[in-house]
Amino acid sequence: MSSGRNKQITEYKLAKELFTRGRDILLDPKSQQMKNYIQHGTTTVFEHCVSVAKFSLLMAHYLEKTLRIKCDRDSLVRAALLHDYFLYDWHDKTVPGHNIHGFTHPRTACINADRDFGLNEVEKDIISKHMFPLTFFPPRYRESVLVTLADKWCALCETFKVDVSSYIIYRVNCRIEMAENGLEQEGAAEQAF
Ligand SMILES: [Fe+2]
Ligand SMILES: [Fe+2]
Repeated sequence: MSSGRNKQITEYKLAKELFTRGRDILLDPKSQQMKNYIQHGTTTVFEHCVSVAKFSLLMAHYLEKTLRIKCDRDSLVRAALLHDYFLYDWHDKTVPGHNIHGFTHPRTACINADRDFGLNEVEKDIISKHMFPLTFFPPRYRESVLVTLADKWCALCETFKVDVSSYIIYRVNCRIEMAENGLEQEGAAEQAF
């Protein structure tokens, strides 16, 4: 019983790992542009990406703990945070190609993310295939499969207004605010949470 409990990962640890691995992206004003657009329901694209990063990381954690299958967690988090970095309002009918957004935005997001943050091959595959089976080619890496699954799960929860990530979104936003205000000493961070 106790060994099973030891395998649990808490939201606190997930938030900490997510922020550490995605720090440069999360603190960049360019990625925070995603706060200006709605993804599903009332969830912004930024919140959606944090949520997808959380569930991708959670699945990676269990893959490693239960099956000893390791993932490239840096690429996993970075690409999950940027997987919808398309930077327009896909609900706006005046946006050219909005009706085929589902098919085209993975490539747009990949091009934007590579331009602004620089991507490795795993990250490119994750972002460009995350809408599989709408994308022609299937995911090539296990990290891509995890983000594809997490994305569908989060989209479902957001559409039906099931709150699965408000806590981690709050924590990530706190860490961003603290970093921006130079209050990032470990002690101060722990107190704020
Ligand atoms: Fe997407
Ligand atoms: Fe998504």
